[in-house]
Amino acid sequence: MSLTDELRSAPPGLHGQSEFWGLAWEALAFIERTVRPGMATLETGAGASTIVFTARGAEHEAVTPSQAEADRILAECERRGISTGKLAFRIGSSADVLRGWEPRELDLVLVDGAHAFPYPTLDWWYLAPHLKVGGLMLLDDAYMPPVAAVIDHLRSSKAWRLGDPISFRTAVARKLADEVIDGEWKGRRMNFSYLPPAKRAVASVRQRQTELYGYLLRLEPQWEPGRTPPEYQLTVRSRVPRFSYALLAMLAVLVWPVLLLWRWFRFEVSRWSESDHPWVSSSEDE
Ligand SMILES: C[S@@+](CC[C@H](N)C(=O)[O-])C[C@H]1O[C@@H](n2cnc3c(N)ncnc32)[C@H](O)[C@@H]1O
Repeated sequence: MSLTDELRSAPPGLHGQSEFWGLAWEALAFIERTVRPGMATLETGAGASTIVFTARGAEHEAVTPSQAEADRILAECERRGISTGKLAFRIGSSADVLRGWEPRELDLVLVDGAHAFPYPTLDWWYLAPHLKVGGLMLLDDAYMPPVAAVIDHLRSSKAWRLGDPISFRTAVARKLADEVIDGEWKGRRMNFSYLPPAKRAVASVRQRQTELYGYLLRLEPQWEPGRTPPEYQLTVRSRVPRFSYALLAMLAVLVWPVLLLWRWFRFEVSRWSESDHPWVSSSEDE
């Protein structure tokens, strides 16, 4: 029986509540399958996942504000005969702990601490640079908007590849490259929820029109360091008349009359072909 199955059959109360408050079982099984002895791992939050990381022999850190929670996890490991020599708890809120954290390269990160805004983003922000290229980041409770915001970014970034979800609520992304975030919003989706309903509807329709018919003009002037950037002027004009469109429209309008004319001509040619005065004479007649 795997450790995940054992925990599932008798979930331990690690969070000071009677109900089990942990990762989805599929995600726990994924950690048990994936983590190898000596891997460098870190999670925000703690619980059954901490027991599994520890049992797999990872060099593991768990960030939780609750010393009581850490004590319960250590006691549960001891009860199960799991060595905790490679486990370190960092007690405090992840927003504070990770800011002063002594960094090391990580193979796998689990983000499952506080789920309110902006914690998932902060956890990702502090930990992503220290995840090895090729390493995995798991995000639990992915349907919660503050977590989903991180996942939206991972989906659109070339530095990450989002995998198939591990469970109905656990997302996983592989880091493909170190990411440079230059601060410019490059996405197309906008959110007008700050506007009153009527203005929101107008803004959304306008935005949709821009998405469908518009274009994005992005200027990225470059110049040598130390040199004064050259001055330039840019004029953008819209609704400029284009005669080629009028010509194309005329051609389109003429297609049908030309077709009718051709059919009439063919008809007359065949009607007169047997007469003494055919419209088109063949070379044999001459
Ligand atoms: C959903 S539980 C984690 C479940 C755990 N992964 C498991 O498998 O049992 C959320 C965890 O986040 C911790 N937590 C709450 N606020 C936090 C914060 N600001 N920073 C880090 N962890 C926090 C809680 O103490 C709890 O351990």
